[in-house]
Amino acid sequence: MTNPERLTVVVGISGGIAAYKAVGVVRGLVLAGHDVHVVATDAALRFVGRPTLEAISRNIVHSDLYEGVAQVRHVAIGQSADLIVIAPATANTLAKLATGLADDLLGTTVLASTAPVIVAPAMHTEMWQNAATVANVATLRSRGIAFVGPESGQLTGSDSGPGRMAEPDAIVAAALALVPGAPAAEGAPGADPGPAVDGAPGADPDLPTRHDLAGVRLLVSAGGTREPLDPVRFLGNRSSGKQGVALAVAARDRGAEVTLLAAHLEVPAPEGVDVVQVETAKQLAQAAAEYAQDSDVIIMAAAVADYRPASIAQTKLKKDAIGDTMTLELVKNPDILASLAANRRADQVVIGFAAETAGDTAELLRVGREKLERKGCDFLVLNRVGWLRGFAVDDNAVVVVSRGGDIVMEASGSKAAVADRILDVLRPSGS
Ligand code: C5P
Repeated sequence: MTNPERLTVVVGISGGIAAYKAVGVVRGLVLAGHDVHVVATDAALRFVGRPTLEAISRNIVHSDLYEGVAQVRHVAIGQSADLIVIAPATANTLAKLATGLADDLLGTTVLASTAPVIVAPAMHTEMWQNAATVANVATLRSRGIAFVGPESGQLTGSDSGPGRMAEPDAIVAAALALVPGAPAAEGAPGADPGPAVDGAPGADPDLPTRHDLAGVRLLVSAGGTREPLDPVRFLGNRSSGKQGVALAVAARDRGAEVTLLAAHLEVPAPEGVDVVQVETAKQLAQAAAEYAQDSDVIIMAAAVADYRPASIAQTKLKKDAIGDTMTLELVKNPDILASLAANRRADQVVIGFAAETAGDTAELLRVGREKLERKGCDFLVLNRVGWLRGFAVDDNAVVVVSRGGDIVMEASGSKAAVADRILDVLRPSGS
């Protein structure tokens, strides 16, 4: 039976320069009171010395598939683990894990274990973005492997970009967040699940759920508003509501009390959440203002019409009466997000979305940072949209920026997985 106060943690270290930071991961876990066993690949031991790892972990370091054969060590380490943390996880290690290769002790350990596994990838941007790595990451995520990072930043050479391993404290916090009741390291951001925990068990209905949002009242809007022109026509948008509904589901599964403000949805509203149907931006504004008062977290994922017809015809508009051209007069809708942010309680977290047709990530970030400033929310979830991107599809790719413009998270994958990661920015105070 797992004792969350003192877990048996296997730290797998593979051969990348970030291996030197794995020492900090081992130390953080030991300081948090856990029994830490390092399994290092041969390549890892070229970057960081065995004595260092043994001194810090207070246990012998395992690396050889053929040592301890009498104790069937190639599977025993994995079988005894309560948690496996692989930091750094190189592109090669991710590929091996994705195919289930077991040609070294780390491979056999992972295959022989039923414990939660979290990986902290570290590699150059090109390798991280290579189609092979992208596919391997998707495979691992679909199996419930959690990811922390990578972050965007300075890499080994003069280059910088996504691929930098998450910081040791963030890795420790994210890893321990996978085991309910496990104490965090002293001095480490224990209440902070880290910048990018992904594919964590809560995201997968077949795996145990994290209950880190228990007691949190979360209001989320989803779908696209419709602004009537006459009794049969409206001005709308292509939002399907899938991302907002995925947020409601993920929050519900993590224990939150969820109210979903549902504008037009193309997916069913989920069970187990309070659903408030709205049609227009004004109705959404009204409902949002009402429910916001009792909410701890507000997420505006709905695509809200910026303008509505100045007048609504009471009977169907007739082309015979209108002629060859028709001019619509539109008036501006209230900015719901900005007003929720302006009127929020000090302890409320307000998250907005920005779907932009930006040409590249740099432009997306520039536009997003300006918007965050203007709207006054705590976080803005940015995604690029286009005719074939973002709307109605099942996958998404987002960057989350916080006040001040820092990127706090990047995620891609199914809208369910992305939803789970967006919720990780809430920094719950307990799990
Ligand atoms: O200004 P823009 O439409 O790009 O901002 C998007 C964000 O603002 C989303 O979170 C959306 O739900 C919210 N929004 C709003 N009220 C509006 C327009 C957008 O709350 N009138």
